Amino acid sequence: MKVLITGVAGFIGSNLANSLLKNNIQVVGVDNLSYGILDQVPKEVEFHQMDIRDKNISDIFDHIDYVFHLAAKNCITDCQEDPIETFDINVNGTINIFEAAIKKNIKKVIYAESSSVYEGATSLPSNESEVFPESIYAISKITTNFLAKEYGKSKGLVTTGLRYFNVYGPRQDYRRTIPPVFSAFIINLLNGKQPTIFGDGSKKRDFVYVDDVNNFHLMCIQDDRTDNEVFNIGSGKYYSINEIYSEIKHLLNSNIEPLFGENFSFEAQNNLADISKARKIGWNVKTDLKNGLKKSIDYIKENVI
Ligand SMILES: NC(=O)c1ccc[n+]([C@@H]2O[C@H](COP(=O)([O-])OP(=O)(O)OC[C@H]3O[C@@H](n4cnc5c(N)ncnc54)[C@H](O)[C@@H]3O)[C@@H](O)[C@H]2O)c1
Repeated sequence: MKVLITGVAGFIGSNLANSLLKNNIQVVGVDNLSYGILDQVPKEVEFHQMDIRDKNISDIFDHIDYVFHLAAKNCITDCQEDPIETFDINVNGTINIFEAAIKKNIKKVIYAESSSVYEGATSLPSNESEVFPESIYAISKITTNFLAKEYGKSKGLVTTGLRYFNVYGPRQDYRRTIPPVFSAFIINLLNGKQPTIFGDGSKKRDFVYVDDVNNFHLMCIQDDRTDNEVFNIGSGKYYSINEIYSEIKHLLNSNIEPLFGENFSFEAQNNLADISKARKIGWNVKTDLKNGLKKSIDYIKENVI
């Protein structure tokens, strides 16, 4: 089997590449390296530095069975600032991938949506049936869901949409203006610096470890009950940013207190996944927060600091 991953040099893409290779699946990877890091793409991957909007992208879809389409502009604040580029990458880029998939008879495209499609929800947990996108990023992501449905209906494209909640683990991006909380907290505390919590730290998030996410990725290419469906990929538990901070501080034996920065009003106060749909077809979350944090800390100590 041969699988193509867009966004292969990013956090989820590079972890997915490792997981597929471990299962003896050949991997072709695409990334324009706008955010991704070439060094984290496993050597066994046939890598193409290419933009997902490139009209010739179907040239590298030959002999591919499945496509994981993960490339996106996904820093929520950057997306608010540049809606035109956000839609160009996230929506037009996705259309380009869907068109290439039709042209080259790809069995299925598994594409990344986001839990941000629930950001305006007034009751939790969120199940897949109702969405409340508000930010530019979330609106771009839910647009890909409408596109997937339309491509399924009019052109027979088979897809699975993945609404990742807050995925964490090795190789989580730490270089962007506002990095994800796990890597930002761990790196700053290990360097003896005060991390910044944006807002008052009371926002609660559903965090899911990347290995659990990869288990679901494998199901997407093995189990046709995932065809033409969308799934929440979270842990079904949520913790406040302050709780995460305390846990990391405790694990690192640190006494450094955080700084508090601007509150981003377009971000949801809380998110929490109803994961019963994915559970029903046999998926389970195996890594709890403490173990996931320990693994993330070990990785950062060995590879980043
Ligand atoms: N990490 C999470 O918790 C999370 C949560 C919800 C949704 N998602 C979605 O999952 C996907 C993967 O997220 P991630 O955390 O690995 O992000 P990431 O930024 O680490 O990886 C995305 C990759 O896409 C590449 N890319 C961006 N624009 C491109 C373009 N025009 N052409 C080619 N490559 C391009 C970047 O260089 C980067 O390597 C994204 O679609 C994201 O929106 C992630």
